[in-house]
Amino acid sequence: MKTITVKLKDRSYPIYIGKDILKNKNLLKKINSNNFALITNKKIKSLHLSKIKNTYLKKNLIILNDGEKYKNQDSISKIYNSLLKNKFSRDGCIVAFGGGVIGDMSGFAAATYQRGVNFVQIPTTLLAMVDSSVGGKTGINHPLGKNMIGSFHQPSAVIIDINVLKTLPKRQFNAGMAEVIKYGIIENKSFFNWIENNIEKIKSNEDSSIINIIKKSCEIKAKIVAMDEKEKNIRALLNLGHTFGHAIENNLGYGKWLHGEAVACGFLIACSVSIHNKTMKQVDYEKVKKVIKAFDLPTKLPRGLNLKKLYKTMTLDKKVKNNQMVYVIPKNIGKAYITNKIHKNIVMKALEEHV
Ligand SMILES: NC(=O)c1ccc[n+]([C@@H]2O[C@H](COP(=O)([O-])OP(=O)(O)OC[C@H]3O[C@@H](n4cnc5c(N)ncnc54)[C@H](O)[C@@H]3O)[C@@H](O)[C@H]2O)c1
Ligand SMILES: [Zn+2]
Repeated sequence: MKTITVKLKDRSYPIYIGKDILKNKNLLKKINSNNFALITNKKIKSLHLSKIKNTYLKKNLIILNDGEKYKNQDSISKIYNSLLKNKFSRDGCIVAFGGGVIGDMSGFAAATYQRGVNFVQIPTTLLAMVDSSVGGKTGINHPLGKNMIGSFHQPSAVIIDINVLKTLPKRQFNAGMAEVIKYGIIENKSFFNWIENNIEKIKSNEDSSIINIIKKSCEIKAKIVAMDEKEKNIRALLNLGHTFGHAIENNLGYGKWLHGEAVACGFLIACSVSIHNKTMKQVDYEKVKKVIKAFDLPTKLPRGLNLKKLYKTMTLDKKVKNNQMVYVIPKNIGKAYITNKIHKNIVMKALEEHV
């Protein structure tokens, strides 16, 4: 088992990564609590709940409906009702067992229940393992916008057992790979190269390769979060491809493309912007394209989108500051920067090249 620490002074926490670690009965022994509530959904319950051998963790089970459309206030109420009915106390610990949807909702419930209780993330999708379970962003959707209600609340531990990935649909796995590739582009060229050279092993779910991509991704995210927990500056690098990606998701209608698919197309467009800005070289663009293609991620925008409308949506993104568009742009593979100095014409040109 590998351990990475997210260094946030007295709120530091470990990320455990390994195979079959859910069967360890001493799991969470270090969390000083004698009262747990485990939140999951119907699908994960039937596929994987039996893998958690510590029955103590399953004392209070809260089973939610599966899907992004249930990431809302109703599900949060359901959690509060269950906790209150069971007299769940302030020294209790909430355990999130699922993908990013379960993790974000459980974290938000933990942040707000009795002004905040501990929580632990046991992510079950690749995206949740490499991204959403680390860093403390929690929240739910509002009818007027995605992730509009939320809070920063760091977990006390993250437990990643790669065994659960066996049942994850390939399309979901590939969408998670978009975030993995993103870490290589923003911060670590040799990690990107490693992915490029190990595509087949990753695709065939080879244990050591899967552990390596999760470990590296968590290390990079942990490092960035430790430097800028509340996204005042460099944490925004993690949004590479996301301004484009969110606009694609929004214009296409949520759910048609997975988030990772939209983000992959988004960071390829950001690479194009960089070429027009005379920073990135064409060979780097081609490398990024080759890798995202290898994971069946889109390299072109969805058919039929209106580019002007797409741009308009981008200007409404919550990352816009003082009326200026802020972009994360790769300089090359391994380094990215945040800028508000990209001209609209360059962005439109990059979009047009991906129709
Ligand atoms: N907090 C953050 O920093 C952060 C970062 C990125 C994304 N997010 C959020 O994460 C959510 C997306 O997360 P996601 O991609 O994990 O989606 P998800 O949680 O909806 O999971 C995708 C699907 O896979 C199923 N599933 C989960 N684990 C499985 C397994 N092991 N085998 C088979 N099926 C499994 C789920 O039940 C669901 O149907 C979004 O709501 C997004 O806003 C949050
Ligand atoms: Zn993302």
